[in-house]
Amino acid sequence: MELTRKGASPAIVVIFGATGDLTTRKLLPALYNLAYDGELPSQFACVGFARREKDQKQFRDEMKEGLDKFSRHKPVDPDLWSHFSEKLYYHQSEFDDDKGYESLKAFLKELDVMYGTHGNRIFYLSVQPKYFPLIVEKLKKHGLLYDAVEEKKHFSRIIIEKPFGHNLKTALALQNELSAYVDEPEIYRIDHYLGKETVQNILTFRFLNPVFEHLWSNQAIESMEITVAEEMGIGTRGNLWEEQGLLRDIVQNHMMQLLTLALMEAPPHFTADNIKNEKVKVLKAVRKFNGAEVDQYAVRGQYDGGIISEKEVMGYRQENNVSPTSKVETFAALKLFVDNERWKGVPIYLRSGKRLTRRCSEIAVTFKPSFPTNNAPNVLVIHVQPNEGISLNFQSKVPSLQETQTVRMDFRYDSTFGVTPKEAYERLILDCLSGDSTLFLRDDEVLASWEIMTPILEWWEKNEPSNFPNYLSGSNGPDEVENLLEAGHQWRRI
Ligand code: BG6
Repeated sequence: MELTRKGASPAIVVIFGATGDLTTRKLLPALYNLAYDGELPSQFACVGFARREKDQKQFRDEMKEGLDKFSRHKPVDPDLWSHFSEKLYYHQSEFDDDKGYESLKAFLKELDVMYGTHGNRIFYLSVQPKYFPLIVEKLKKHGLLYDAVEEKKHFSRIIIEKPFGHNLKTALALQNELSAYVDEPEIYRIDHYLGKETVQNILTFRFLNPVFEHLWSNQAIESMEITVAEEMGIGTRGNLWEEQGLLRDIVQNHMMQLLTLALMEAPPHFTADNIKNEKVKVLKAVRKFNGAEVDQYAVRGQYDGGIISEKEVMGYRQENNVSPTSKVETFAALKLFVDNERWKGVPIYLRSGKRLTRRCSEIAVTFKPSFPTNNAPNVLVIHVQPNEGISLNFQSKVPSLQETQTVRMDFRYDSTFGVTPKEAYERLILDCLSGDSTLFLRDDEVLASWEIMTPILEWWEKNEPSNFPNYLSGSNGPDEVENLLEAGHQWRRI
């Protein structure tokens, strides 16, 4: 299995929507931290493209404020900042204004001369999804995207934030619109979960450790439980959330990625396309729900007020820009089956929600007992976050007693490696600068995931819930999740 990475190429990163939250919280800190770690090429510049009026200095000052709060390396190094901020520019324009793209083109050429970036471009679309096709069309129209011949000399790559579509139909339409202007290899669809060290480690853990891989099937595994729980509510995203809901925000993307990595077959070679081929095969093998079956295999919820970390928090319907009678879900749990030889009959439980008792993302694998027993089963847990690591529960005899007890073998990133892993966005931007798309999503992966989610969404839309809000903030979610479980299984405590 190849773990080496190519070096990052010189390039200019243009961030569309640069005045948004993501730029301040994640993108700029990622670029700065890469510079701090010496991984950003010195031939580099970054241009923020957005609609608001502001000058260069204002933009740089705002980015500095963001770094002070959100950078992994703190405090911000004044020398590095002074050097880094000189390469940071602001370009004001509406997204549909041709003149804005013409002046951008001229400006990027100037920057190429100043910084030796060879015409290489990354366009990061951190904007509302409705602007994706418009921006890409304008970039193409103004010669900012290269054709296949030019791509051999320099590159123009597009990074697209989620959500990629609202359901299967709109995702397909978006894909068709984009592919009129950009070739698939130049599209980098981000799912930041893939940038997390613990998520990247899933394949290494599975395929380089035969002791586990030999047991990795329905022969030895009874069930799998994937959890993405958050203490946070929806914050200031009321408008967006009302259109989206939890299934689209977390399950369609982050959780499906965890699922495919946990269940895929080993590819013939560990290349980007081979890995994606195997991931798509898993998604295609997930059993799809038909109409009312959804009620048997899926549970949704919405948070009420409650107490989290000793603080009182409001219910979803009281949040800003949320309807007081909203039917939108902030929690979802599913029981899926993957109908292939390896996973036939193994329930895969997924559970995710806002305002749960604590933040926790993990994959828990429960093994079958070798004979009927009342002892707790072996459970292997990949702790995605926090307390990143892997643990295995097993039975041990209690010294001097004729009793057994569940004990735990534990691997923790912090104590073993003594370093804070890179932030997901650092890894992903670096990979895009290197032209490595392994950790980005291919069109068929996204569509295959929508094929699973769309029947659920459609059924939920047609059949509004009558019991919302149905869980307290600070709890483990709605009680109905118990109905999903096969006999003998219990949800893990979050
Ligand atoms: C984002 C979702 O994609 O992921 C957010 O839009 C969610 O609602 C976030 O809070 C969770 O990411 P992480 O890395 O904190 O688990």
